[in-house]
Amino acid sequence: MRVQLSALCLALVCAPAAQAAPAKADPRDGKAVFEKWCAACHAPNPRLAGTLALQTKYEGKIPAALEARTDLTPEIVAAFVRNGVAWMAPFRKTEISDAELADLGDYLTKTPGTKGKAR
Ligand code: HEC
Repeated sequence: MRVQLSALCLALVCAPAAQAAPAKADPRDGKAVFEKWCAACHAPNPRLAGTLALQTKYEGKIPAALEARTDLTPEIVAAFVRNGVAWMAPFRKTEISDAELADLGDYLTKTPGTKGKAR
């Protein structure tokens, strides 16, 4: 029971406190934001809603997986994240803060090959 409680502390209490520290946009943090909020639809798997929709939209002319794109800018990423599109719901600042959005924009606009390697 004691072990479980400290694990809970790590997951729920301590981790958000650590994330609250002010930081500059960092693509490594952006990867974590992507994994948490976007990968369920946009990971490089053609069965996922976002990847499938973008495959259909661009007919393979540009990569369907967001992490493989080279044409995104932080502004474009932010516009879609805050406004949503089709059945992608907009994300609120209570879900993805402006600082996390900056990290995410940074992550998704780095050259491919430096990101998405872990999968
Ligand atoms: C519920 C599934 C879902 C989630 C979660 C989701 N998206 Fe999407 N996203 C979509 C779908 C579907 C589209 C394509 C809509 C269309 O057909 O134009 C899309 C489109 C986009 C586009 C537009 C790309 C283009 O060229 O048109 C961007 C950018 C994007 N998503 C970023 C994100 C980011 C960043 C996150 C995480 C914060 C995210 N999405 C989370 C489903 C999702």
